[in-house]
Amino acid sequence: MFITFEGVDGGGKSMQMRRLIDRLNELGYRVVVNVEPGGTRIGRQVRSILLEAANKELSATAELLLFFASRAQAVDELVRPALESGAIVVSDRFTDSTMVYQGVARGLGQDVVRDLDRIACRGIRPHITLCLDMDVEAGLARAKARNTAGGATETRLDDESLEFHHKARAAYHELARQEPGRVKLVNADQHPDAVAAEIWDLIEPLLRPAMT
Ligand code: TYD
Repeated sequence: MFITFEGVDGGGKSMQMRRLIDRLNELGYRVVVNVEPGGTRIGRQVRSILLEAANKELSATAELLLFFASRAQAVDELVRPALESGAIVVSDRFTDSTMVYQGVARGLGQDVVRDLDRIACRGIRPHITLCLDMDVEAGLARAKARNTAGGATETRLDDESLEFHHKARAAYHELARQEPGRVKLVNADQHPDAVAAEIWDLIEPLLRPAMT
């Protein structure tokens, strides 16, 4: 099974992903984790180009292709072999992020993203996508507080306009309307325990017994 986490910045995505992985591990499932951009050694090099705040002149097309370069490497090196070995793969973001941020918010077009997905992922698609949904301003405030505290320089995308992030959130809602069976909006604006419970209710029915 291939599970992806999506959503606007600051929605508590990484923490909820960690909680789900811990719970699956406790039940005896083998879980392989991917992060986009950057799930592999090469992907992490690509990630630093993409997110480095100083890289202001990165062109929209180069950005799009770099996100897919990181993903293609992760698919070949990590995701496909893990799925073939029977592991559960959990990915922090995947092609839906590119659809929403580059395809829609940046206006590069959804067809271009679909074409590149065909090349980079070759049929690997999430079975379920948990989209942590929350108010854009509140999420960005959380992300900024985290960045400032950590002295982060990976803020190029966080520094985009509010309008950019609003467009991304609307695009996630549209994806959930188009593919209700796969893309699940989860209300991230509640206590983390409640968010985790909502996520577990979506995942548990899809699990096969763990092989122990
Ligand atoms: P991420 O590391 O998940 O940051 P956060 O924890 O703040 O959500 O993602 C970094 C940024 O990259 C985030 O603003 C979303 C953006 N992004 C894209 O624009 N396109 C993509 O294809 C991916 C994977 C991420």
